[in-house]
Amino acid sequence: MVRSKIAGIGYYVPERVVSNDELAGIMDTSDEWIQERTGIQQRRYGKKHEETTTTMAAEATRVACSRAGISPEDIDFIIFATLSPDYYFPGCGVLLQRELGITKKEAGALDIRNQCSGFLYALSIADQFVKTGVYKNVLVVGSEMHSMGLDFSTRGRNVTVIFGDGAGAAIVQPSDDPNRGILTTKLHSDGTYAEKLAFINPGAHGGYHLNKQGETFDFGYPPKDTFGEIFITDKMMADGNYYPNMEGQFVFKLAIQKFPEVIHEALNEVGLNPSDINMLIPHQANLRISQMVQRLLSLRDDQVWNNIQKFGNTTAASVPIALCEAWEAGKIKEGDLVCLAAFGSGFTWGSALIRW
Ligand code: UT7
Repeated sequence: MVRSKIAGIGYYVPERVVSNDELAGIMDTSDEWIQERTGIQQRRYGKKHEETTTTMAAEATRVACSRAGISPEDIDFIIFATLSPDYYFPGCGVLLQRELGITKKEAGALDIRNQCSGFLYALSIADQFVKTGVYKNVLVVGSEMHSMGLDFSTRGRNVTVIFGDGAGAAIVQPSDDPNRGILTTKLHSDGTYAEKLAFINPGAHGGYHLNKQGETFDFGYPPKDTFGEIFITDKMMADGNYYPNMEGQFVFKLAIQKFPEVIHEALNEVGLNPSDINMLIPHQANLRISQMVQRLLSLRDDQVWNNIQKFGNTTAASVPIALCEAWEAGKIKEGDLVCLAAFGSGFTWGSALIRW
């Protein structure tokens, strides 16, 4: 079976830089708190009414296509990972196809809802399609417009200060060198704690049985025996219950366990060790998480790429943005062993090993 490879990669971040001090001007937070707990110094926000998750993805895609030596019309299949889609439905995959002006070919488009690990899931699916000979040019893209859906009051500060906007894209093609390309991908999930990091409303849950304990929440929905009203209720508005929610410490503890676990799993499969990794690209969730993972794997600073300081956490876009940035900086060379890893909401997590 032929291997697949990343033939071209690109990223896009909006122009507008938002500093910690700017956020401290609108909610009760501080540059000191944010830097100490997360490492973040600034993030980017898209231009409202001009940029969307889809338009940013299109920018990143054009760069990835040109670096892969193809035109967007050559794309055989689109895999789009995001938790901040332009619309509830249809997904961003078809919107990106239209934005790129490539509807004529009627190539398939798939949306991935796996949050922080979305790019890893998307890449793994692309890998399966390419190595089995089904497609030759698969576009894998992660893009997020978080700034449109965050709580900018002090109530939302633990979540809001972390996130930023941006997009990253990769073209996955068959590799002509059997020793180079994607060596393996590992994907996992455990829905036990789905609500620990979630954006629940509006949803079709109706407020009932939101977790396995059968706990119910009063979101102000009409009684059980009526139809309709799955969208935002007055009570949700009053309670501010229509924003993402996170139990940060719970997520943190699991993240530092699962990152090393899934990286070891991939390395074991191909008979390599952490010391063989030339560049680890961890999902940029929190600089403290990346630093702990680095320590647990005994990696040097030059073996790990972090850019959360500049861009915040861009969820599905963070791995491809960081990968692209490291590559552009000349830190990833032909033959290098690159490891991608992510953990987040779901919980879902995964890793990929690539001989570049
Ligand atoms: O990418 C998806 C996966 N996500 C993650 O992996 C995130 C994992 N978790 C984290 O990164 C961290 O838990 C956070 C950065 C989200 C929070 O840091 P923390 O050190 O766990 O803080 P905390 O939530 O335990 O809150 C500590 C204190 C609280 O005040 P009290 O109760 O001690 O008085 C919070 O209200 O810090 C307060 N706080 C803030 N203060 C200033 C929470 N957010 C802020 C803020 N500014 N932005």
